[in-house]
Amino acid sequence: MAKAKSVFACQNCGSQSPKWLGKCPDCNQWNTYAEEHFEKTTSARGELSLGSREEPTSIGDIDMAEEGRVQSGIGEFDRVLGGGLVPGSVILIGGDPGIGKSTLLLQAVAAVSQRGLTCLYVSGEESQRQIKMRAERLGVDSPKLLVLSETSLERILEHVKKIKPGLLVIDSVQTMFTSTIPSAPGSIAQVRETSGSIIVLAKKTGLTTFLIGHVTKDGAIAGPRLLEHMVDTVLYFEGERGHSFRILRAVKNRFGSTNEIGVFEMKEAGLAEVSNPSEIFLMERPLQVPGSAVVCSIEGTRPILVELQALVCRSFLAVPRRTTIGVDHNRVALLVAVLEKKMGAKLFDQDIFVNVAGGVHVDEPAVDLGVIAAIASSSREAALDPKTVFFGEVGLAGEVRGIAQAETRVKEAGKLGFERCILPASNVAQLKHINYPKLAAVSSIQDCWKLLF
Ligand code: TYD
Ligand code: MG
Repeated sequence: MAKAKSVFACQNCGSQSPKWLGKCPDCNQWNTYAEEHFEKTTSARGELSLGSREEPTSIGDIDMAEEGRVQSGIGEFDRVLGGGLVPGSVILIGGDPGIGKSTLLLQAVAAVSQRGLTCLYVSGEESQRQIKMRAERLGVDSPKLLVLSETSLERILEHVKKIKPGLLVIDSVQTMFTSTIPSAPGSIAQVRETSGSIIVLAKKTGLTTFLIGHVTKDGAIAGPRLLEHMVDTVLYFEGERGHSFRILRAVKNRFGSTNEIGVFEMKEAGLAEVSNPSEIFLMERPLQVPGSAVVCSIEGTRPILVELQALVCRSFLAVPRRTTIGVDHNRVALLVAVLEKKMGAKLFDQDIFVNVAGGVHVDEPAVDLGVIAAIASSSREAALDPKTVFFGEVGLAGEVRGIAQAETRVKEAGKLGFERCILPASNVAQLKHINYPKLAAVSSIQDCWKLLF
């Protein structure tokens, strides 16, 4: 059989087909198939492929070279990475245009280079002078920080071989191209090939590498899904337009916990760390307003207090709306059902909106009680006590179940001046030694209602 010389690939998800398709069967997008030619040439990746042959070894005999992590000194950044940079790891970071990816990495790289590690920052989007202008603005300067404006993979690899940096940043994988493939830069084939080569290089030489990736309309990193599997860590840099707060979130991390978040604020002179996010998220909270409840969510290793807002209003639709931002939609539907069945709330003709203030996502069952309290508060037009925090998972029978790390959460609430915590009875039993804030034990939502309304 003759070898096909071209293949059609979806430019959204990377799915391939031998013939053109109008609609991608994988991601259901229309008009995303484009022809990509490939020729059998020796790719840069082939040349680099892990040369040294390994023999199977007993796990006890494997020599653990001291793989010390390198800290950048930017606390929030290091924490999201699981406590610093692991040599040889590849980190993919995605985010909307203009959110601050280049700024964050330039600051991080400058901080690392000041600790004596040679760093190479390659930008395919900005010229050296533009990078310098940004650096001036950020006030970063270090003799060990090298910048390069280049898009050709082959030339970048040459420079890397010559300079032997300890840290490499590729400012956007979508701008890089290799001449071994005829497709245009940014196409799936190019992204796959160039990032593949860089990853192999990183693994082979122990070079820590950051890849910046653009995101698609719906927020996923553009390029082949495969890319996320190939790298060690995937970070997303998010933030609301018009807000100066930015959240760095790990969605995959082979060397640390996911769900860890780092909070930054974009200022005149770059990104500044926010070391006490609870304070920030609660700053503009309206007091004595129905529908607002404070909950505590554990993000990675850190408790964060956030405000949950619910709005319940008369619906004019045949099927009332249930809209949630920052909390799981199905979970809210379940809690609304519990509320109707167990507490006799009439919500079938009401639109329900639930929002987590500050653009945070909470996906722990421990916020259930807060969701229920906020919805009930809005539907009854009765404000909740602003000095109370809610903890607890709610079951289908209306029971309130214990949660993990209750003590950490209670302490965080105390630190921020909350006077009362409503939490599951099973947790209160273990927290007898805490006398501030006041702990109110509940074992069902009926108990909770007695305290609230
Ligand atoms: P940038 O890092 O270029 O975003 P990305 O690489 O994700 O596309 O960030 C650009 C935005 O950040 C721009 O809108 C201006 C803002 N900014 C500041 O507010 N202060 C600064 O010191 C810098 C460098 C940028
Ligand atoms: Mg950029």
